[in-house]
Amino acid sequence: MTTINRAWTVSAQQDVQYSVETTFDILDPANPTLVDGEHGSRRLIVTDTTVNDLYGEKIRAYAAANLSEYKILVLPHGETNKRWSAVETVLEAIETFKLDRRREPVIAIGGGVLTDIVGFACSIYRRNTPFVRVPTTLIGIVDASVGVKTGVNFQTGKNKIGTYFAASRNLLDTSFLSSLDQRHVSNGLAEILKIALVKDNELFALLEEHGAASLAGRFQQHTEAQQQIIDKAITGMLEELEPNLWEQTLERLVDYGHTFSPTVEMTALPELLHGEAVCLDMALTTAISVHRGLVTTEEAGRIFNVMRTLGLPVTHPSMSADILVAALIDTTRHRNGLQRLPLPTGIGAATFVNDLTPGDIEAALNILTGAMNRDLERSAA
Ligand SMILES: NC(=O)c1ccc[n+]([C@@H]2O[C@H](COP(=O)([O-])OP(=O)(O)OC[C@H]3O[C@@H](n4cnc5c(N)ncnc54)[C@H](O)[C@@H]3O)[C@@H](O)[C@H]2O)c1
Repeated sequence: MTTINRAWTVSAQQDVQYSVETTFDILDPANPTLVDGEHGSRRLIVTDTTVNDLYGEKIRAYAAANLSEYKILVLPHGETNKRWSAVETVLEAIETFKLDRRREPVIAIGGGVLTDIVGFACSIYRRNTPFVRVPTTLIGIVDASVGVKTGVNFQTGKNKIGTYFAASRNLLDTSFLSSLDQRHVSNGLAEILKIALVKDNELFALLEEHGAASLAGRFQQHTEAQQQIIDKAITGMLEELEPNLWEQTLERLVDYGHTFSPTVEMTALPELLHGEAVCLDMALTTAISVHRGLVTTEEAGRIFNVMRTLGLPVTHPSMSADILVAALIDTTRHRNGLQRLPLPTGIGAATFVNDLTPGDIEAALNILTGAMNRDLERSAA
């Protein structure tokens, strides 16, 4: 008897739809947005220790007024707790709560760490448990709650394990920023600056003019400029994410600032925040662009100035040539063997290169050191 080998090819497409919407006073018990008008239903709410300290009472009052039954799970805050054990804790809570996943979306209220953990847990519980994201940090509002990535750190790798899984709704309420310390506002401004540098020079001009006041006032004045900054950042981010949600195209403008920063952030953890590491990467790549004649020294000066105005670092001891070369090798591996390094060309546009050398990195570090020294001399004069 002859055996005949058979092969089947399956091809399917997944339809993804989710909403990103701004709202105000989401924890006002009279506001039905959070439970999507489903008064009297059950919900598992997950938050972190800091948010619980600040908003726990309001969350409980909201839940008591709007839900027939609820459980609030509080996870330890911070990047060092962004790990697999936190995902397990959420999975256990979902199981114990006997969540009816078709009718009771999990609610995640917190920063990017918390929403990434909860999103990951929901994506693997019965392979698909809907969740709603309520970001409480600026990075959450303009970045982590806009796309479809979930995940946690694994061993020494930043976000090494995770999934692509959209929250069904992302409810953005900037009033949470009133309690955020300035360093974390700066942290979010780094991701806004990223969009400005690679695709939106009007956003850059807004940051130049209104960045300092937005930082100082934590976006609570709700001026037209502040609303435009957040609006443009989210719109720009979504323009880049929507056509490439599953990251099939590896040349992504939103990866700007994310080539060297994962290694730098993990090397310096917990000293550097995510946005700070991203900003260091953007400062370095701006200097690389100067070295290659893609950005003028005058443009670079304006970029470094905005970084400082936004309370972000331009240099850091962990930005050594060795670490940066290792970071580039690691990122190149994840970008399927090519560097696909976004580099600014002027302000508000970018190109991708694949031929960066350790020499370019050394030259850029020298440019950065030179720029810093000139600043020190100017402030001493
Ligand atoms: N999924 C994505 O697409 C995506 C995008 C960008 C960043 N991220 C991830 O997001 C994380 C960074 O986000 P983050 O900066 O929000 O981190 P975070 O969640 O650690 O929040 C920062 C700190 O602020 C506290 N906090 C949260 N809300 C607060 C509030 N309203 N007032 C006072 N304190 C508050 C938190 O408890 C924490 O201590 C990183 O892990 C990064 O990988 C994910």
